[in-house]
Formats: sequence, C-alpha cells, structure tokens
Amino acid sequence: MASLAPPPPYHPDLLRTIAGAIAASADRRITFAEYMAIALYDPAAGYYATRAARGIGPGGDFVTSPHMGPDFGELIAEQLVDFWQRLGRPDPFDLVEMGAGQGLLAADILAYLGDRHPVCYGTVRYQIIEKAAAAIAAQRQRLLPWGEKVTWSTWDEIPSKSIRGCCFSNELVDAFPVHRLRWGGDQWQEIYVALAPDGSPTPLMDTLGPPSCDRLVPYFDLVGIDVTKLPNGYVTEVNLAALDWLEVVGDRLERGYLLTVDYGYDAARYYQPAREGGTLRCYSRHAHHGDPYAYIGYQDITAHVDFTALERWGDRAGLQTLGRTQQALFLMALGLGDRLNALANSPDGHPLDLNTLLRRRDTLHRLIDPLGLGNFQVLIQTTELDDRDTPRGLREPRF
Ligand SMILES: C[S@@+](CC[C@H](N)C(=O)[O-])C[C@H]1O[C@@H](n2cnc3c(N)ncnc32)[C@H](O)[C@@H]1O
Repeated sequence: MASLAPPPPYHPDLLRTIAGAIAASADRRITFAEYMAIALYDPAAGYYATRAARGIGPGGDFVTSPHMGPDFGELIAEQLVDFWQRLGRPDPFDLVEMGAGQGLLAADILAYLGDRHPVCYGTVRYQIIEKAAAAIAAQRQRLLPWGEKVTWSTWDEIPSKSIRGCCFSNELVDAFPVHRLRWGGDQWQEIYVALAPDGSPTPLMDTLGPPSCDRLVPYFDLVGIDVTKLPNGYVTEVNLAALDWLEVVGDRLERGYLLTVDYGYDAARYYQPAREGGTLRCYSRHAHHGDPYAYIGYQDITAHVDFTALERWGDRAGLQTLGRTQQALFLMALGLGDRLNALANSPDGHPLDLNTLLRRRDTLHRLIDPLGLGNFQVLIQTTELDDRDTPRGLREPRF
C-alpha cells in the first residue's frame, strides 16, 4: 500500500480556538482534558467534527470491530437478546448505543435482530447518544432503512429512571477527555497545556501546576493504587469523565444492563510503576504515536480505560459488576467459534471459494486476535442486584 503523506501540523481554526481558551484562562493554560475536548469535539473544527465520517475505517485513521464486518454486531445482538429474556421480555426494550460512530454497529444489530429474533426486534426502541454532529449525520444516513425505530437524544432529554434495557458502547470511554498527571516523588502535579514560544517545533507544550480539581488525587485511593511506589517523574492519566458518565447512565437506567467494550486494564496493570509514560495514544492514518500536539485536529487522541475505576464507581452509581472478560472469549461464548467451524464444514454443501473463505476466516480471527481486538475488555454491569445468572457472553466459551 502506498504510504500516505502526513497531515498538516494543525488545523488553523482549531488552533485559534485552543489559543483563545488558553488566553482567556487566568494562568494562561488549560487542563489536558479541556484541550482534548476541544481538539476532538470542537463543533466546527474538532477531529470528530471533520473526520467522523471518514477518519474511522480502512481508508481513515483507525478501524474498530464493526469495520471487520457484521459478525461483531451480530454476536453483540445475541447478548442483547439474552438481556431481553433476563429482564422478562420488556416491551418496549430500550437499546441505547452511546458513541455510535458511523452507525455500523447499530445497522448490524438491527438487521440481525429483525432477521433472526423478530419478536425481540418488535419490542426494540433503538436510541443513540452521540456527541459529534457529523457522526450523527452519517448515522442518520446509514440507518434510514430503520425509519423511526432509531432516534437520537441527549442525556438531558432522557428522564431519570426511564430506560429499561441495555446501554452499550464500543470504544467510547477511551475517547473521553482525560487529565494528565505527573508524580513528583511526594505529590502529584497536573500537566496543563500552554502556548509554546515562537520557533518551537509544535505550537503547544506541557506545563506543570497543582491539580485543577480535588477529585484527581483521591482517584488513586478509589482504584487502590499506592502512589508512593511510583517512580519520580511518572506520567499518567485520570479519566474523570468516565466516572461522570457512569453516574448519568446509573441515573437514567431503571432496570437493565451496561455493556462496555474498550481497550484497557485493571488499575494494578494500568498504574504499574513500569508504565512511566501513561497510555495516551494518538492515531493518524493507521499509525500511532504519543505526541498529542502533533497534527492538531487531524488525529484521534485516546487513553486506555481503567476498568477498576468503572467497576468501583459503577457500584456507587447503582451499577453492580456482573463480570468482565476479554473480547475474544466474549465473542466465542456468543458463537464466533461456531462461525469458524461452519466455514470449514460448509454445511450447505456449497463450499466458499478459497479467496472468500480466507478473507472471512481472517476477519473472524482479527476480532479475537489476542494481540489486537481480541484483547479488548468487555464489562457487564447491572441494576439487577438479584441477577446471579451469568450472561451468555461471560459463560465458558465452547471451542
Ligand atoms: C472511537 S469512536 C467509536 C465509534 C463506534 N462506536 C465504533 O466502534 O466504530 C468514539 C465515538 O464516541 C463519540 N463520543 C465521544 N464522546 C462522547 C460522549 N460523551 N457522548 C456520546 N458520544 C461520544 C465520538 O463522537 C465517536 O463517534
């Protein structure tokens, strides 16, 4: 494949907005979370405003599981049917997808439910919560065939305790703006963003200051990390937006489940002393690197997810953890192994031609690749405190 030219160093309008926010702040600096929120979600020039429709996918900056074909969505749909049954087949059954990107997962789930689980499908009310207007436009286009079955809302439009069903997301939480911190041997300092002096290689730079809010330092107690074991100069991130989000979901969900698929670790691995530079990653044109001030507005910026924080804060928000597993095991438990076997056995007597077979096998393998998507975490939380039965996707997979 011909290598693509790198994007420009920054989007001029976006840099003006960021510089304006820095100039308007008392100390001439903004938190990294404020910077990330503008760089990704500024409505006019943020990464997701200009790249939502084109940035994700084989021709863009990175791919996600739904880009591998419909299998991911179809197997998730099997888990959703399991939830529906466990809840006593509610009608309506709310499916709330958060951060739906280009709407691929929604289309795969709806098509599969309509085809294979028509009774459940008949009860589904599919709602999307999406931050980027450009992504909403792409979703509306793709989901036209489902008409009024799909609606778009903001959290403010959804009343407290009104959702009965499942809220779910793929690669949402890693896209939340994070704070960056540096351990100085005896205390934390926050890494802020400031304008770099003229002539610097990038227009923005890190600058240190005291933590911007009193929720940052106690975060490490929440997730059980002894920070005195961290080396001097250790840099990491804290995702407070994920905690806020859990509270909103916990408030809106009357009965049901929260299903979160994303890359990350438990806190002990996330904040291990050897991970001295944190997990911040920037994606542009299928390459990744660690410089958040490169290609401003033209690259995605993400941080891994601390699943211990989701579990512990979820408990406080009325969302008890039912279990967590890896994507590979989750998809195998829901039938991906059967799909692989079906390829080899060609039960309909019409073997696939070799190219199709190899492509399809490659697709399925990529979803369970232990060095890639298969290593993502799948977390299931619930309001149903009496629900002791293991969800299908968390059961022992059949091989
Ligand atoms: C990495 S993309 C993943 C898209 C899609 N789920 C997929 O798997 O291809 C993250 C998506 O989450 C959206 N997003 C980020 N923060 C959000 C928020 N607070 N509420 C709703 N959507 C959000 C982004 O606009 C984008 O569509």
